[in-house]
Amino acid sequence: MKKAIFPGSFDPITNGHLDVIKRSSRVFEELIVGVLVNPEKNSLFTVDERVEQIKNVVKHLSNVKVKKFSGLLIELMNKEGAEVILKGLRSISDFEYEFQMASLNNKLDPSKETVFMMTKAKYSYLSSSSVKQVAMLGGCIKGLVPEEIIPDIIKKINSK
Ligand code: PNS
Repeated sequence: MKKAIFPGSFDPITNGHLDVIKRSSRVFEELIVGVLVNPEKNSLFTVDERVEQIKNVVKHLSNVKVKKFSGLLIELMNKEGAEVILKGLRSISDFEYEFQMASLNNKLDPSKETVFMMTKAKYSYLSSSSVKQVAMLGGCIKGLVPEEIIPDIIKKINSK
């Protein structure tokens, strides 16, 4: 059994992400959710806020840890002793970008493998940016993100 890293921006975490985390936590010995510190991206939440939100919604999964990271994903993997990059695939349109990233990461470090998990069909349309757009336009985001973080999203959007 291997140690895997599920990297992303998670701004915010969606029910699609959470579904992949739950299912993959049964496949891998340990799963680290790697939250990217990306100063170039105009994020809704700070990286520390995102880490806290994810920790809160995965607290019942004993083999899942949440860590922020900056720089190369491969460097985080080496630091944590992880062999596998776990990515969720929603649709064929994700494939090209993910194939490029997987190939690049494998070129950077051939000892690392990327493993893809299909998201459930009911989450195939879901993305963090679409959740933010719906929330900003006053739409209902119930069922799209974990219940616990809905108040955070509404509060943050109202404060902007
Ligand atoms: O949720 P996102 O924004 O699509 O996640 C992108 C992420 C974090 C997976 C990707 O940007 C990443 O791995 N960044 C770390 C920098 C890195 O290692 N780049 C080289 C490989 S693409």
